[in-house]
Amino acid sequence: MITIKSNREIELMKHAGHINYLTHQEVKKHLKPGITTKELNDIAHKFILENDCTPSFLNYEGYPASICISVNDEVVHGIPSKRKIKAGDVVSIDIGVCYKGYHSDSANTYIVGKSSEEITNLVENTRKALYEGLSVIKNGIRVSEIGEKIENFAKANNLGVVEELVGHGVGTCVHEEPDVPNYYTNDRTKLRSGMVIAVEPMLNLGSRHIYMEEDEWTIKTEDGLPSAHFEHTVLVTDDGYVILTE
Ligand code: MF3
Ligand code: CO
Repeated sequence: MITIKSNREIELMKHAGHINYLTHQEVKKHLKPGITTKELNDIAHKFILENDCTPSFLNYEGYPASICISVNDEVVHGIPSKRKIKAGDVVSIDIGVCYKGYHSDSANTYIVGKSSEEITNLVENTRKALYEGLSVIKNGIRVSEIGEKIENFAKANNLGVVEELVGHGVGTCVHEEPDVPNYYTNDRTKLRSGMVIAVEPMLNLGSRHIYMEEDEWTIKTEDGLPSAHFEHTVLVTDDGYVILTE
């Protein structure tokens, strides 16, 4: 079932989204060569608690940290560790924030310092792919139109679209119906005003193929080339959408 949020629920989700955005800003401030991914995790964890929220991902299906940090060929769900960030790393930060039982989910990818033109384009085009996907959202569209847009944009830019992981509804659970794939499907499900979804393209510089690490969380590209991930939680409205996580 896809839930339509009440005005009260939307207010709580806007707050969860705002704290999510501020947590991203806080982590970004500290993202420099030499810092460990665990240190970045702890900065986010503390900031979320100080704002009377809780980290949505901690213990989610057994996930052992507060945020996900995925570096270079790691696509998503990287577990923070003693790994030190280096200049030129491509770092995806994925944060879930819960306020009074309502979640928000958002991801950004950064290049630490400078990288090649190819990798800079990967990151910029993945950000653009997210906004391309969002651009079609309004009451009455089919969910598959979002994926169609993202897929077309990615293909035009020669990027691999990860298919095994998808966007999703958001509410009292981080992952609710509907699925929001980043590619075209013949699913007829429609969006309605008051639904809240997370759109999250994961695009690879090389092929779309991925595998799971032995830690049973970290997803990596099969060819070892870098990947980027951007995500916003958005509210569907009569004539468009409102981004809750910026
Ligand atoms: N933002 C992630 C997603 O929607 C959720 C991470 S779940 C966790 O794919 F368990 F890894 F935390
Ligand atoms: Co998500």
